[in-house]
Amino acid sequence: MAPTSTPESPVSDSAEQASPYGQGAAATARATVAAESSLRGIPATLHKVRTHHLQAAKRAGEKFAMLTAYDQYTAQIFDEAGIEVLLVGDSASNNVLGNETSLPITLDEMIIFCRAVTAGSKRALVVADLPFGSYEQSPEQAIASSVRLLKEGLVHAVKMEGGAYYASTVRALTQAGIPVMAHIGFTPQSEHMLGGYRVQGRGEMAQMMVDDAVALADAGAFCVLMEMVPAETAVAVDAAVSVPTIGIGAGNGTTGQVLVWQDMAGLRTGKMAKFVKQYAQMRTVLADAAKEFGDEVRQGVFPGPEHTF
Ligand code: KIV
Repeated sequence: MAPTSTPESPVSDSAEQASPYGQGAAATARATVAAESSLRGIPATLHKVRTHHLQAAKRAGEKFAMLTAYDQYTAQIFDEAGIEVLLVGDSASNNVLGNETSLPITLDEMIIFCRAVTAGSKRALVVADLPFGSYEQSPEQAIASSVRLLKEGLVHAVKMEGGAYYASTVRALTQAGIPVMAHIGFTPQSEHMLGGYRVQGRGEMAQMMVDDAVALADAGAFCVLMEMVPAETAVAVDAAVSVPTIGIGAGNGTTGQVLVWQDMAGLRTGKMAKFVKQYAQMRTVLADAAKEFGDEVRQGVFPGPEHTF
């Protein structure tokens, strides 16, 4: 397989590649990722991932990765690991604030998480969810909310849940210069309407999902994310639109894949969705560290002379 940093990679951007990415540990980490990765895709040495790089990836048959991030350290770690897109998901509602659903999180709360993620990342495209209640009323409301996410949260694009009904909103946003990632399939903000976490787009509903994706892409969405849809529906959607698709529980036929980082890294406990793969056991690592710290404090071992002024 071609190295990630191949200059003739179809998704490379020579002008941006030419500019040095940065200095210090971050640049070293990125260079290591570039050197070690044997996978094709958007070059790890690319200065900044833009929406057009994701679109070029689709045209070239390349894949890219997206993870959620809600704070500066995870943003920095994932950015340096070469993750192309960071999503400040409204899943911060469940995964950070401890709510049962994504519905309670406010635009003001989202902006704080966005600010932390954009402060911690340099290369990744940072996308923020428009939270429930911040865009449904009108295109004007969606523009006002998105402007805050870009102006105060410093993100580069917004993600919006909903189908063809929101095509006029997507058009208004893109005309205002705000890139939009469409989110179809299972849309967590509509969980009460959809009757819980259920696979969407089975059987006859598959065509409706294709129609939604086409309408949203035609309206200007730069990417279509699908959550919990059968793999064959996702493939049909991907074939119907020229923009890249991202899947979560949508099989392996999409351009990109996304996972919630606490699921991916094994921080969260409880029943995992079928589509989750855990790449680490962070909960155990943190619990062991906390136990050892507590034991050492109680035994009078910490702080030792080397930690004492
Ligand atoms: O908010 C979120 O984390 C999401 C992902 C599930 C795609 O929308």
